[in-house]
Amino acid sequence: MRGDVHTVDPKVFEACLEYTRALFAPEDDVLRALREEIRRRGFPEIYVSPEEGRLLQMLVCAVGAATVVEIGTLAGYSALWMARALPPGGRLITIEKEPRYAALAREFVRKAGLDGIVDVRVGVALEVLEDVGRAGPFDAFFIDADKVNYPKYLEWGLAHVRRGGLIMADNAYWGGAVANPEVRDPETAAIREYNERAARDPRLTSIVIPIRDGIAVSVMTR
Ligand SMILES: C[S@@+](CC[C@H](N)C(=O)[O-])C[C@H]1O[C@@H](n2cnc3c(N)ncnc32)[C@H](O)[C@@H]1O
Repeated sequence: MRGDVHTVDPKVFEACLEYTRALFAPEDDVLRALREEIRRRGFPEIYVSPEEGRLLQMLVCAVGAATVVEIGTLAGYSALWMARALPPGGRLITIEKEPRYAALAREFVRKAGLDGIVDVRVGVALEVLEDVGRAGPFDAFFIDADKVNYPKYLEWGLAHVRRGGLIMADNAYWGGAVANPEVRDPETAAIREYNERAARDPRLTSIVIPIRDGIAVSVMTR
């Protein structure tokens, strides 16, 4: 019987995911070494998956983005995927509050030959964004930092992403908590608010792509 791979059998779904990852999102030595180094240093292994990296890269390509802002660098895994989609002269600014993570990100930006393209800034996102915003508007914005500020990050995106540009946010499902009305903690509430605004704001055309923990993707249509 054929059907939706989510519902047929978890093993079938897992096999399809492996198939997709191997065919569409193979990692090169730099990306693989970065993941190994994150593990060796005992940093949290909370970066996007290869297929999510590929998806972000593809979306950045799809809108012809030359300027991207990311919040939540960790060690630069998602930044490397997106930066590789940029045209000559393109630039990705990524913001990380933890200096140790940012230092590793800078090391791998160099290893990936993306010096001068990826700019890793250390600081608290809302403060750094204030300064970054002066160089806008930007073509794409990827949100992957503290969840309670997601609605504020969306506000920033609405003010600083160009028409036709992208606002994307990881963890839109928050492990399924957003769809469970009994869960009411501040992080879940903030992600719900983000999703509701992304779905209803007349300036945006949005959807959550059900990949891993869900990536909310919005196009600035107005
Ligand atoms: C999920 S990780 C980012 C993973 C990264 N985007 C990737 O896929 O490779 C979230 C990161 O956001 C950082 N972070 C959390 N709150 C922040 C804030 N307010 N400002 C800047 N960075 C923040 C954390 O230190 C952590 O490294």
